[in-house]
Order: sequence, then structure tokens, then C-alpha cells
Amino acid sequence: MKKLVGFIVFTGGLISCVTAQQSSTLKGKYKPYFKIGTSVNSAQIEGGDTKGRLLITKQCNTITPENVLKWQLVQPEATKYDFKLPDQYVALGEKDSMFVVGHTLVWHSQLASYVESITDPNQMEKAMQEHIKTVMGRYKGRIKGWDVVNEALNEDGTLRESVFYKVMGPDYIKKAFRFAHETDPACELYYNDYNIELKEKRQGALKIIKDLKAEGIRIDGVGIQGHWNLQWPSIEEIEQSIIDYASAGVKVMITELDITVLPNPWDLKGADVNQNFEGSPFMNPYPNALPDSVDVLLAKRYEDIFKVFLKHQDKVDRVTFWGLQDGDSWLNGWPIKGRTNYPLLFDRNYRPKKAYQTLLNLSKK
Ligand code: G3I
Repeated sequence: MKKLVGFIVFTGGLISCVTAQQSSTLKGKYKPYFKIGTSVNSAQIEGGDTKGRLLITKQCNTITPENVLKWQLVQPEATKYDFKLPDQYVALGEKDSMFVVGHTLVWHSQLASYVESITDPNQMEKAMQEHIKTVMGRYKGRIKGWDVVNEALNEDGTLRESVFYKVMGPDYIKKAFRFAHETDPACELYYNDYNIELKEKRQGALKIIKDLKAEGIRIDGVGIQGHWNLQWPSIEEIEQSIIDYASAGVKVMITELDITVLPNPWDLKGADVNQNFEGSPFMNPYPNALPDSVDVLLAKRYEDIFKVFLKHQDKVDRVTFWGLQDGDSWLNGWPIKGRTNYPLLFDRNYRPKKAYQTLLNLSKK
């Protein structure tokens, strides 16, 4: 049963019972409900960012590598692997008994160039199998769950014409999951994508899950990335997607959560997305500090989102933030380079923001 639990703590010789809701860390607070994690970057893995490492250990019970296990980095050439940082990443998670996630085996982006030039289906299948067996196999029993296929869908729910799709056809997804299961039969296997809480794309993700299950191929979970903003997507849409995925028989994970507070070029009516917004004060309104009013909005948005996660805590298995503190976030460089964004729970000085306090004090009702 994954419900409210009490822990016995010693406080100045007295024994008292503390409920999870009185915990002083995120991982403690949410332990009865779901895992709490963050992506980790090279500086945190190598130890250069000591404050970051300490905070991760304190607040999280699961980690995901932001980049170091992506194909381009771990296997840049057919016969060349680089396991230096991945080895340190896995050791970091094990040291603190965290649930170590692998991200990601088959993805069209950050792909090694030798794979992009393969045109023969058998050769592509062999390259995929070898990549999965070698990378996943190295951490067998240690990485507990892998994003096997990442971002295979278009926004309308059809399959993206990635290099894997073009060369191997739609069955590349089934093959990837089969290879992964053969490599580490105890490992959890996930499909991970963005915008799959939205209705059309959700149908595509549900089809992937159903097609795998129909053939008896293992899939344990779906990763809703959760790159969201202050208004979008609606709480109703998030909730419905959690319900739909759970009904399809998989664990629901929020795998890359962050909430941008900056204007989006796509929202500007009549704007050309290719327009160069770099250096535009209008698109980078808070270069020095986050105004208190926006900090409050961010906290409220996180509160609303976590309320729905708590409501469906029997379906939600993990919530992972995409970055620890605001300075780490990829959103400072995308979709416009050189901005100052504030999408996470900790500020650039590793201090908790209002959103952190709100999530720590949130009651389950
Ligand atoms: O490795 C090179 C390094 O050698 C070079 O010196 C440096 C100079 O810019 O670039 C390094 O590569 C960068 C890489 O991150 C590692 O730091 C790339 O330019 C940069 O584009 C890359 O961005 C990552 C992005 O995925 C790539 O698509 C982000 O850090 C990472 O947060 C982001 O994460 C993805 C998830 O994996 C999947 N879902 C979406 C999410 C956000 O895009």
C-alpha cells in the first residue's frame, strides 16, 4: 500500500511520529506517493558542482542523465564508446541508493552521425541492437529503468519520420523494446515524449503502448516529459492523460518537468519563428531577477500540477524535474539563446523558491 506512512525519528532523545507531509525534503514529503527526481548534468556528475550534488542527494531519490547517455555521446562512432561520465553517473546514483534511470536508447536527436548515414534496414537493426546490448548491458541490474524510445511521435499522433522509421519502418519501436528486454529482463522499459498529454498526440502514444502489449512485448511506463508553461496545458488535459495511460496498463511518469515563465515566440501572433529574438528585451523580460508576482504565479502553477499528481498518486510513479536549479535549465538557451529563465524549484544560488515551499507544504486534499 502506497499511502501515508509514519517514520519514527529521534529528536533530542524524544521519539516522535512524523507524517510524510511534515517532511523537510521533497523526497521525504512525497515518498508515500511517488519518487522525486532531477536530471543531472556533467558538472554534477563529475563533482565540479558540489552544491548541486549535495542538493540532489538531499532532495531526490531518483536521477536521470541530462545528456551523458545519449547515443552521440556514449557511442560517437560504431566502434567507439565513451563510458567515463556514464560510469560516474551510475555510481553517483548508487552511492545514495537512488533509482537510477537511463535516458535514452533510441532517439533521432543527439544521434551519432554514423547512424544517420545508414540506409540498409538490416544494418540499422544491427546498429540498434548493438547499441542497446552494449550500453544497457553495461549497466544491467544497476540502471533500473530506461527510456527505450524517445520522441517517436508527430504532434498529430502519427509516427515521426525519423531515420529509424525511414530505414526500418514502424516496427523499429517493437524491435527496440525487444532488444532492451533481452538485454536486461528485470529492467523497467519506458516510452518517453513531450506533448503526449495533449489529445491527438496522446492517441499515438496509447497506440504504441497497446501495440507493444498486444504482442507481449514488455513496456512498464510512459514518460510525459512535462515541458510546460504558466497556463498550458490545462490541468484537465494533464489529468485525463494520467487516467488514460494508467488505463492502458502502464505506470505514469512525469520525466522532464519544468515551467517556463518567459514569452514564447510561437505565441506571438504574426511572429516569424525564425525571426532572431536574441537580445530582445521583450523576449527576455527578467534578465536580473524574477519578479515576486511571477514567482507567486509559478508557485501556484506547480501547486495545481502537483495536486493532480497527488490525486492520482496510485497511477503516478515518478516526477523528475529537468534540471536542479534555474541556472542549469536548457530553457535559458531554447527557443531563444541567451535568456534568463526561472522554470525550476531552486534559484541560481541553490535557494528554494516559493514553488518549493508550496510543494513541501501541500496537503493531499
Ligand atoms: O557536447 C557538446 C560540447 O562538446 C560543446 O562544447 C557544447 C557547446 O555548446 O555543446 C555540447 O553539446 C550540447 C549538449 O546539450 C550537451 O551539453 C548541445 O549543444 C546542446 O544542444 C545539448 O542540449 C540538450 C538537448 O536535450 C539536446 O537536444 C540539453 O542539454 C538537454 O536538456 C535536452 O534534453 C532534452 C531531452 O533529452 C529529451 N526531451 C527534450 C529535452 C529538452 O530539449
